[in-house]
Amino acid sequence: MPTYAEIYQRSIEHPGAFWAEAAEGLHWEQRWEQVLDRTAQPTPRWFAGGRLNTCYNALDRHVDAGHGERLALIYDSPVTDQIQRYSYQALRDQVAALAGAIAAQGVGRGDRVIIYMPMIPEAAMAMLACARLGAIHSVVFGGFAARELATRIDDCQPKLVLSASCGIEPNRTVAYKPLIDAAIEQATHKPTACIIKQRPPLAAELQPGRDLDWDEAVAAAEPADCVPVAATDPLYILYTSGTTGRPKGVVRDNGGHAVALHWSMANIYGAHAGDVFWAASDVGWVVGHSYIIYGPLLAGCTTLIYEGKPVGTPDPGAFWRVVSEHGVKVMFTAPTAIRAIKKDDPKGEHLARYDLSGLQSLFLAGERCDPDTLHWAEVLLEKPVIDHWWQTETGWAIAANPLGIEQLPIKAGSPTRAMVGYDVRILDDQGQERPVGEMGDLCLKLPLPPGCLPTLWNNDERFREAYLSAHPGYYLSGDAGFKDADDYIWIMSRTDDVINVAGHRLSTGQIEEVLASHPDVAECAVIGVHDALKGQLPLGLVVLKAGVERGVAELNAELIQRVRDQIGPVAAFKLVAIVSRLPKTRSGKILRSTMVKIADHETWTMPATIDDPAILDEIAASLREMGYAR
Ligand code: COA
Ligand code: AMP
Repeated sequence: MPTYAEIYQRSIEHPGAFWAEAAEGLHWEQRWEQVLDRTAQPTPRWFAGGRLNTCYNALDRHVDAGHGERLALIYDSPVTDQIQRYSYQALRDQVAALAGAIAAQGVGRGDRVIIYMPMIPEAAMAMLACARLGAIHSVVFGGFAARELATRIDDCQPKLVLSASCGIEPNRTVAYKPLIDAAIEQATHKPTACIIKQRPPLAAELQPGRDLDWDEAVAAAEPADCVPVAATDPLYILYTSGTTGRPKGVVRDNGGHAVALHWSMANIYGAHAGDVFWAASDVGWVVGHSYIIYGPLLAGCTTLIYEGKPVGTPDPGAFWRVVSEHGVKVMFTAPTAIRAIKKDDPKGEHLARYDLSGLQSLFLAGERCDPDTLHWAEVLLEKPVIDHWWQTETGWAIAANPLGIEQLPIKAGSPTRAMVGYDVRILDDQGQERPVGEMGDLCLKLPLPPGCLPTLWNNDERFREAYLSAHPGYYLSGDAGFKDADDYIWIMSRTDDVINVAGHRLSTGQIEEVLASHPDVAECAVIGVHDALKGQLPLGLVVLKAGVERGVAELNAELIQRVRDQIGPVAAFKLVAIVSRLPKTRSGKILRSTMVKIADHETWTMPATIDDPAILDEIAASLREMGYAR
């Protein structure tokens, strides 16, 4: 058996041969003309000239090969007390019927469809039905507010919205329909139809002429067949936070994506057809796209849609109950979920109630994994716990421990080594490589491997500017870190204004825009402060306009509500301090990173360019009052 090092080397030296071989595992309507078209703009494209259908490869291919009875999807919902199971045949038939209902609304190849759904099987069906028609889906996480939905509607201009009447959070029912109505009202672009899954406990009122009942639309539809598309055609757009308030529409293609995910299932996760693979995330995030829906189904695994939380639904044994009840072999979640379980069940008493002998490994990603959390899980599970690093933009792991090939030694705090096709370099500001052990920009030498974003939706220019312009010939990840003498990668921080709250990526700039729009606010800065559970939390420092004399408590509550209403509960924005001014350099740049260091008790030095050093004392005092800084 070749080693990881041999396989990696081959992928870098002979990418064409490497990925052509990986592509053989899928069904192609027409083979590619070029494995890698290096002339394509703004980036080289994989499998140019090839044609395939991602839904066919995820569902029909297994049915046609005689595996229709195999379990494709398990829906486990502690919040509604339900478990449902779908075979590949059943899931394929339901997806074909839904695709028929979508096509009946005039949606075809290349048209966009917004999906705004809770964690129910219909969310998976919605994504796969779009893929079946060659339509481009854009899933919006249920924790985003109407304004965020409206921004995405205007950017991708969908013909159709697929949604449900409500989502169920442990403490409340979230009515989706009023959010959709408000978003469509706010957006300039108007989708022509909405198909709404009515679910207890809350039915939605449907708007005649625009809204259709999901079940009725599906019952009336003729099942639709798979539409072959170009390998380079977009499969989906997924919006993610950038430095500004406007989210970036990350585009994923069909061919490279299917090939990369199929390869990753066997080689990174060690998961094969028939295995139960569970990513405890949400379809609204990239982890949900890649490893709840497409990866496991492309590999013929059984995937799990879990509508619940790590704790409180009903207790911190929830994850282990699911693992033992459904025979999960490989599990994937965010470190924050493990921290939440560890906090409520430090000795693993809930965990001890379940037979976890079938579990082979636990993978963690989405944020930095602190060594304590990793060790806690390792000791209690007695299985490899693997940290791996990736981003919405890449769609699959940049660095990991490839258990399907061989297990490399685990170093807590590092996501291990670069995965195939990723040529990871640490660069300084001048574009020179940093020596071993020294920090710099984590960059990927072009071309990126299959599966990574080819561009941003309708915005090649922003793509070039955000990712390709800092270091010509390299993709800029936005993370800073270093490589050690064993080529292990260490991710230390972001280099931009992105923060990571409970594994969710947020832009401080976006929160600042909302705060700044309050009539009483003169200026503001939002920083990410350390949080023991969620990794980071956003904290707003606000300067009021002269003459504003309202109560601080009232104002704080308004600012917090404003962020919740305009970005959504997912922003978890609950910390605000009113200050007299913000620390700035003489050229007017706000000293955010100095404030973060003060809040997080890190050593910091007075910036030489600061215009008024005294202000940092006031900021430190405000932070101390909120339980931060020393
Ligand atoms: N729809 C509507 N609201 C949602 C939502 C959804 N799909 N998901 C979360 N929210 C709401 C929550 O109800 C909460 O609202 P609240 O302020 O009224 O309490 C808010 O958004 C913040 O949610 P969250 O950050 O998830 O915090 P929490 O306190 O509810 O739970 C954890 C804490 C650690 C249990 C939770 O963050 C968790 O499970 N994280 C896993 C992260 C993950 O899977 N990330 C994906 C990347 S791999
Ligand atoms: P997202 O696009 O939401 O998946 O967020 C990607 C970002 O999360 C990365 O750029 C990192 O900043 C962070 N991240 C993801 N995985 C890891 C990891 N294993 N270690 C450290 N940071 C991570």
